[in-house]
Amino acid sequence: MIDVAVLGATGYTALELVKILLRHPEVRITVATSRQEGQPPISTVHPSLVGRLEIPLEDLEPAEVVARASCVFSCLPHTASASVVPALLDAGATVIDFSADYRLDDAATYLEWYGLEHVDPSRLGQVAYGLPELFRPLLKDAALVANPGCYSTSAILPLAPLVKAGLIECDDIIIDSKSGVSGAGRSPKLMTHFPECNESMSAYNVGRHRHTPEIEQVIARHAGSRPEVIFTPQLAPMDRGILSTIYARPTRAVTEAEVAAVLHQAYDAERFVRVVDHLPATKDTVDTNFCDITVRVVRGRILLISCLDNLVKGAAGAAVQNFNCVFGLPETAGLL
Ligand SMILES: NC(=O)c1ccc[n+]([C@@H]2O[C@H](COP(=O)([O-])OP(=O)(O)OC[C@H]3O[C@@H](n4cnc5c(N)ncnc54)[C@H](OP(=O)(O)O)[C@@H]3O)[C@@H](O)[C@H]2O)c1
Repeated sequence: MIDVAVLGATGYTALELVKILLRHPEVRITVATSRQEGQPPISTVHPSLVGRLEIPLEDLEPAEVVARASCVFSCLPHTASASVVPALLDAGATVIDFSADYRLDDAATYLEWYGLEHVDPSRLGQVAYGLPELFRPLLKDAALVANPGCYSTSAILPLAPLVKAGLIECDDIIIDSKSGVSGAGRSPKLMTHFPECNESMSAYNVGRHRHTPEIEQVIARHAGSRPEVIFTPQLAPMDRGILSTIYARPTRAVTEAEVAAVLHQAYDAERFVRVVDHLPATKDTVDTNFCDITVRVVRGRILLISCLDNLVKGAAGAAVQNFNCVFGLPETAGLL
């Protein structure tokens, strides 16, 4: 059994992670952290865990965490995560980081998009990006994995094979994404207050959403040059799920069957990416680690439509898939 710790255990992604880990045959959850006082049982914050996980929420220093767990899942917000990851790594733990802190390759891009100096810049660019479908060889035995952003996964998985095949113009990619409200986390905010978002849809962070440079960085690895992406996230009145519609200009005339064949070739052997003929809906993937993708060619443009559960393939499920890759376990363990 591998002893694991969950940092930021009171959050949405942490709850999803715990639910998956409780089904995992090789894992024991030994630590759950929170800044809450009084060390309440985790089930007081997440009542769905009553009778399933009865450990306290503790406010611990990194060394205390590593004394009781060899792998740490950090479900903390960005900056909070980078403030503890170096100490966790130095103490010998494997870390799977849900936050954006280690996804970007350089501190200047982090400063530009996050408005902050990175506290651990020397590690940037040397971290395994946790998308096994594209970077599996880099994950085995990795000490630190940067779990991708939820929107990023929904965009990168459909785009990467087509970019690799030279089928799309990388300077003209439009990504239109809708997300459920849990994507914003559990802390109350005006935008996610029920009367603000229920029965309503709105775009936000247009032209400046922080997943933009992450998507461009990963696409660049397949394209050879820096792509230009217009990414427009929108909040949809649902708990969870992301639907992304991606518009791309082909480099030459293509048929739908030809593009679909490239996607099938990339993903037919992958357990968690389903290339489908129908138009997928978020409900098809909710509570699962699947990303569903389809393609249409409309008036000469390639349209890719993808969906996934932001809390599972977009966060906790991806983290466990990465954990399985790092520790050489069956990639589906805990996830089906
Ligand atoms: N939500 C998603 O769909 C999604 C998808 C992909 C990635 N992510 C990323 O995953 C991470 C967790 O997201 P989430 O949605 O689970 O967030 P969340 O629901 O807001 O939970 C984050 C938890 O971290 C703790 N925390 C907050 N600020 C902290 C600080 N300054 N120092 C230490 N602990 C702090 C809080 O616990 P206490 O107050 O109890 O200490 C909180 O419950 C974030 O980095 C997020 O960007 C989220």
